Amino acid sequence: MPTRSLTDRLDGLAFGGDYNPEQWDEPVWKEDDTLMRRARVNLATMGVFSWALLEPDEGRYDFAWLDAHIDRLHANGVAVDLATPTASPPPWFTLAHPDALPVTPDSTRLTHGSRDTYCLAAPAYRSAARRIASALAERYGEHPAVALWHVHNEYGTLCYCDHTAAAFRAWLRARHGSLDALNEAWGTVFWSQRYTSWEQLLPPRVTQWHKNPGQALDFRRFWSDEIIAAYREQRDAIRAHSDRPVTTNLMLPAYQNVDLWALARELDVVTSDQYPSAPGPDAAADVAFHADRARSLGGGRPWLLMEQGTNTVYDRDRVLAKEPGDVLRHTLGHIARGSEGALFFQWRQSRAGAETWHSAMVPHAGPDSRIFREVAHVGEAVARLGELAGSTVTASVAVLHEADAWWALGVDGLPSADLDYHAALGRAHRALWDAGVTVDFAHPEHDLSRFALVIAPALFLLSDGAAENLRRYVAGGGTLLVQHASGYVDDRMHARLGGYPAAPLREALGVRVEEYRPLRRDERIALSDGSHGTVWSESLRAEGADTLAAYAEGMLAGAPALTRHRFGTGTGWYLSTRLDDAGYAALVARLLDETGVAPEAPGLPAQVEAVLRRAPDGRSWRVLINHRPEPVPLPEPARDVLTGITLAELPPGGCAVLRIT
Ligand code: GLA
Repeated sequence: MPTRSLTDRLDGLAFGGDYNPEQWDEPVWKEDDTLMRRARVNLATMGVFSWALLEPDEGRYDFAWLDAHIDRLHANGVAVDLATPTASPPPWFTLAHPDALPVTPDSTRLTHGSRDTYCLAAPAYRSAARRIASALAERYGEHPAVALWHVHNEYGTLCYCDHTAAAFRAWLRARHGSLDALNEAWGTVFWSQRYTSWEQLLPPRVTQWHKNPGQALDFRRFWSDEIIAAYREQRDAIRAHSDRPVTTNLMLPAYQNVDLWALARELDVVTSDQYPSAPGPDAAADVAFHADRARSLGGGRPWLLMEQGTNTVYDRDRVLAKEPGDVLRHTLGHIARGSEGALFFQWRQSRAGAETWHSAMVPHAGPDSRIFREVAHVGEAVARLGELAGSTVTASVAVLHEADAWWALGVDGLPSADLDYHAALGRAHRALWDAGVTVDFAHPEHDLSRFALVIAPALFLLSDGAAENLRRYVAGGGTLLVQHASGYVDDRMHARLGGYPAAPLREALGVRVEEYRPLRRDERIALSDGSHGTVWSESLRAEGADTLAAYAEGMLAGAPALTRHRFGTGTGWYLSTRLDDAGYAALVARLLDETGVAPEAPGLPAQVEAVLRRAPDGRSWRVLINHRPEPVPLPEPARDVLTGITLAELPPGGCAVLRIT
């Protein structure tokens, strides 16, 4: 286990990025040293894509070039986040082990020439990955420059090959114990799918029509376990030679091929990458969504933003630029929510190769550029925030997130294609962000008692344990909002009988869903309070709950749409449609009001982001980010740690870090 935290080793927060000096030459390395000092870089991620240089032929290592760069960085005061290069095997590996190339669901075997061309379940790949992780750890485990280990890169690629099939069968045997149990769990009695030997079982490859939902869900679970096992092998190989913290960078929020709660438990520090998918305030909200999830995955412990872009906003089929000031606002958005610094992909923009046009800290134009000047300015700001290291963030509202529930909405044959897990999660978070409230994410089986309010936006799958836990939470005084299409299936994807959601939850909510009625694309259904629903509606019976809003048209006219139920010492709310934005914002405001949850910084208008970080010794800081186009007066003048100046107002787009206690 690590003997010192990352920030202890760095003596402050982390600032830097992926550093790929192998793309450059001596004069550029010299300039890198100067520019890193100017930008206050103190951590560089190295080796993420260096397998071909580190191991030019199977079993023959060349570390001399890496030695020289690590020593140079060390002499320059820059610590190293040393990666294992296993996300990008070299061509020699593929040619020697063609069976380790990934296969798509339609049985196409991919070829090298990009990255991530490996099958995680292929024995040759796994042992090659262990070997190089071990060789790197043996050589650099005690190197004074190494402050963090970065296993792999964004685990998640899937494979459907025969190695995968064999590993899947072994996993299924361990999970189900017998074919009878598996057949029962997957409901194979339908469509003549009954399995009579383990060899008949396959990954969910391309089929004529709907795939079996139990098989699809189990495959997701299996692959997640495979990822975690692969990570653990490398981590343990490293730990045998090093006492530095070990991590792998998660890709949040939408990349969901792994159970993030389970993987996060294996990490010494949660690290994650974030690239917004829309500009402006949407990007800032996305930063918060990402950061709150990263923090929550680590149980509230400090975490680290491993990658962001200086100028990268992925907007479907194009990459948009960030506006001046966005890099500082996004960096502080992450730090406000518990990140121990901010790193970028990558330090210097590539002049060739697959990501030539991806932004970087030093752009093609060189240091005489807006981007590098902003980077240096942000580096200076982060350097001033060293006192925040180790402080944490707490929230009194939680949004529930769970891998099985996400995967359950990805199976074939659901009543509507518009049940979008990720969008529902983001929407709940966004409504709370807009209301100025800090949010945690929680697993539906976590102890939820510390939260005044819990929102369950998309728990289509709900295990018996989770349903009971939510019932207990409400009975014990909590306020829970459950949204449409929740608790419809158990953890085997079997429909709940007798009405949805799962029975213990029905008791807490005082409702029973008798019939689901998905809406047509673009259909809106009027509610009695003037709001509208889209996507989904339900024939809902109040069984003890009060109706707060009813459907106002169609077959459901007069039937409950939004209900509230006093249960035990708490309250269960149920919303049976997807409310329009204004209606949802009003509902969230009402829930916050009824539970007494105030915005983080009362006295500040909407769109001024405010988050509190608290140190164990009682010190605290409020990070403020003004997303408004006009200046905003502070409730009282306060000293800004970023500038040392006492501020009376925040300029448009301005940021401040105020020491509170
Ligand atoms: C990911 C990867 C990086 C780079 C960026 C581009 O986060 O980890 O290697 O490809 O995406 O946005």
